[in-house]
Amino acid sequence: MNPLVVANWKMNPSSLAEAKDLFGAIEKGVSDINNTEVVICPPFPYVSEMQNIKRKIKIGSQNCFWEDNGAFTGEISPKMLKDLGIEYVIVGHSERRKYLQETDEMINKKIRAALYANLKPILCIGESAEEKEGGRTKDVILAQLRQDLDGISEALIIAYEPVWAVGTGMACVVSDAKEANLFLRDNTQNSILLYGGSVNGQNAKGYIADAGFQGLLVGGSSLYEEEFLKIIKSVDL
Ligand code: PGA
Repeated sequence: MNPLVVANWKMNPSSLAEAKDLFGAIEKGVSDINNTEVVICPPFPYVSEMQNIKRKIKIGSQNCFWEDNGAFTGEISPKMLKDLGIEYVIVGHSERRKYLQETDEMINKKIRAALYANLKPILCIGESAEEKEGGRTKDVILAQLRQDLDGISEALIIAYEPVWAVGTGMACVVSDAKEANLFLRDNTQNSILLYGGSVNGQNAKGYIADAGFQGLLVGGSSLYEEEFLKIIKSVDL
């Protein structure tokens, strides 16, 4: 399978002009990339503009709700995303679990709704620093898988993102990432596994070539075109 590299821009950059510049520069940089699927998940207000200028890059959403429409102020449905030509949606990111109190039950509903709308959900799971120190990594990710995927039999995209590695500059060592990869492989069926958490141009390749992941979920480094292109080029087959 060709590597899948997903950029999660989070709540950045702070203007449409900057988003267009960054997107345009990345699009230009991937013109000679043929074997890696590149997806950018911009903040929602920029999505339509990015849709207009995209060529090779696919667009994803950072979140969705679980109903098609109705009185849910501020929410966006999977059906609306699909209608805009969006293919991917990140679900259950650790920042949403932390700041928006998103629960596994809500995440389960979102994944079901996204699959129903024919979107490709990217489920984020991973342990906290405390859980890692307590030797509970496998228990935690297994519990998340069981609850988030309860009643769901489709293979999907799962991003292993240790919470302590997200946005901290402390990427997971390859041997630990490999162990998590094997564990996820044993406990999911045919899912595409991504690694995320402080990925940069230096460490990206190791997660694919040595730890066995099929792709990456990149936050901070995806806001710097040179660094992001370095990541893509280092994993492109
Ligand atoms: P990071 O974020 O690359 O900045 O650690 C990853 C993510 O939030 O998906």
